[in-house]
Amino acid sequence: MTRVFSGVKPTGHLTLGNYLGAMRQWAAVDQHRADALFCIVDLHALTVDHDPARVRRLSRQAATLLLAVGLDPALCTVFVQSHVDEHARLSYVLECVATDGEMRRMIQYKEKAARERERGGSVRLSLLTYPVLMAADILVYGADEVPVGDDQAQHVELTRDLAVRFNQRYGHTFVVPKASLPTVAARVMNLQEPTSKMGKSDDSGPGIVYLLDEPDVVRKKITRAVTDSGREIVYDRQERPGVANLLEILAACTGGNPEALSGVYESYGSLKKDTAEAVVELLSPVQERHRALCADPGYVEGVLRDGAERARALARPTVDAAYRAIGLLPAASDTGAEVVLNAAR
Ligand code: TRP
Repeated sequence: MTRVFSGVKPTGHLTLGNYLGAMRQWAAVDQHRADALFCIVDLHALTVDHDPARVRRLSRQAATLLLAVGLDPALCTVFVQSHVDEHARLSYVLECVATDGEMRRMIQYKEKAARERERGGSVRLSLLTYPVLMAADILVYGADEVPVGDDQAQHVELTRDLAVRFNQRYGHTFVVPKASLPTVAARVMNLQEPTSKMGKSDDSGPGIVYLLDEPDVVRKKITRAVTDSGREIVYDRQERPGVANLLEILAACTGGNPEALSGVYESYGSLKKDTAEAVVELLSPVQERHRALCADPGYVEGVLRDGAERARALARPTVDAAYRAIGLLPAASDTGAEVVLNAAR
C-alpha cells in the first residue's frame, strides 16, 4: 500500500487555505487510499523566534483540528513529531550526507533569513538545517508520496536527492519519495493581497480566514476582501486576482467551477455574500467537532499517544538500518530488523 506522509507546522492558527489546499484532501482522499501519517511538526516551529507556551498551544490545537476536519485514527496515524525521537536521530545522519551549499540554496531559507536579517535579528542554525529534518520526517517512514503545496516542492526534491545519495553511498536504505500536488484542492490567496498565498504565519489577520473564526468574523473578512478595478465578474487569475480568489473559494466550498460561477454574478456584493455564506457553512461542522473534541482532551491525548507509538514502531527499524549502513556500531538496543523497502511491502 502506498505510504503517505505530510506535516503541519504549529506556527500559527490553521487557515481556510490550509484546509482547502491540503487538509480536506487528506481527510477525503488520502486516508482512504493510502497508509497515511499526518504529523504536527513541532520541532520545525522552533526554527524561528517562538514563544514556548504558544507553540504548545498551537500543537494541541492543530492536532484537535486535524481530527475535527475528519482524519480518523482508525484509518490513519496522527501524531506529534517531538514524540518520536527517530526524526532527530535520522536528521543528524542526513546532515552528514547533505552539503552546506545545498542548504544555502533553499529558496525558503534565503527568503526567511533575509527577512530576519533586515529586521536586525539573528538567524537560527536550525532554519538552515530545517530541510534536512524535513527529509528525515519523510524518509524515516519510507513514505512514497508527500502531499504538499508547491512552496515545499524544493524541499521534497532535496529529500529525494539525499535518499538517492545515501542509498548509493551506503547501500539501499531509503524509499525515494515524490511530492504529490493536491488534485482537487484550491490554492487560496490572502484576501487583502490576492497575489500571495493565505499562509498561517503571516500576521496580516484581515486577509486570512482562520478555521476557528466566528461566522461574523468570516463574513467581515470576506466582505472586505480587495477586489479589482473593473465592475464585471470575470475569472482571470492574472488580471483580476481578487475576484478570481473569491470565485475559487466559492467553487471549492460548493464543488462548483470558478469559470462557470463567474457568469452567475452581476456584482461584487452578491459574489462576496455568497462566498461568505459558503465558507461559514463549510466551517460550521468543523468548528462544532472542534468544540466537542476540546471538551474531551483525554481523547485527543490518547490519539496522539497511540499515533506516536505506531509511528515509532515504523520509524525505528529504518533509523537503525541507516545507523548501521553509515558505519555506526550497532547498539544493544538495535532492532536488527531489515528495512522492508517499497517493492517488498
Ligand atoms: N515544511 C513544511 C511546511 O512548512 C512542513 C513539514 C515539515 C512537512 N516536515 C514535513 C511537510 C514533511 C511534508 C512532509 O509546511
